Amino acid sequence: MKIDYLTLFPEMFDGILNHSIMKRAQDKGVLQTNTVNFRDFAENKHNQVDDYPYGGGQGMVLKPEPVFNAMQAVEHTEATRVILMCPQGKPFNQALAQELSEAEHLVFICGHYEGYDERIRTQLVTDEVSIGDYVLTGGELPAMTMTDAIVRLIPGVLGNQQSHEDDSFQDGLLEFPQYTRPRSYLGHDVPDVLLSGNHAHIEQWRHEQKLINTWVKRPDLLEQYPLTTEDQKILETYKKQLKK
Ligand code: ADE
Repeated sequence: MKIDYLTLFPEMFDGILNHSIMKRAQDKGVLQTNTVNFRDFAENKHNQVDDYPYGGGQGMVLKPEPVFNAMQAVEHTEATRVILMCPQGKPFNQALAQELSEAEHLVFICGHYEGYDERIRTQLVTDEVSIGDYVLTGGELPAMTMTDAIVRLIPGVLGNQQSHEDDSFQDGLLEFPQYTRPRSYLGHDVPDVLLSGNHAHIEQWRHEQKLINTWVKRPDLLEQYPLTTEDQKILETYKKQLKK
């Protein structure tokens, strides 16, 4: 996968891209990254990239020319996903991370301004994405957050393929609780079933825990999840037991 970042602050990406799994993915040749400072593509003497909004109003608006020119400088095809980081975009989630991890080329457009000239949206961008219902000062952290979530899903990036299959959200539920040694810690014991060696029982327990965990912490996720009759029984039993 190739990722280009169109940004006014290329150095912001150094920390994330040069460490841990993101670095390993690049060392392995699975990922190639490039930052482009779109200020270098401004068409005026002072390299100005923003301007006052037509019609008046607060704040500045990112001009189209620097972004269009920077985009031309980045080799791309019809299949390139051009992602605009913006609080009004569609919410980023695991399903979108999975979809984007299958793309060959991503371009992230990271703005730092009150707004983008609308022609950037209508003419360049394939996906307008938000990482949550809050406003950050720029699109760099959102682009890095998305990069991390996407790249770890590319086959071969994580040590073993299993390591993201059990993730929260991967199947629409939160993860089951995990325990490691010691078996008893400060008087709190590891559930017996995990020590039983009975894989069918362990699988069943983990599925129950995922359902319960999701119901407790993120009941909204269950609205999208196809609960079986068995799943419904598990939750009913749990709820009854709470009332006792
Ligand atoms: N830029 C500023 N805030 C943002 C957000 N929540 N998501 C994506 N891009 C942003």
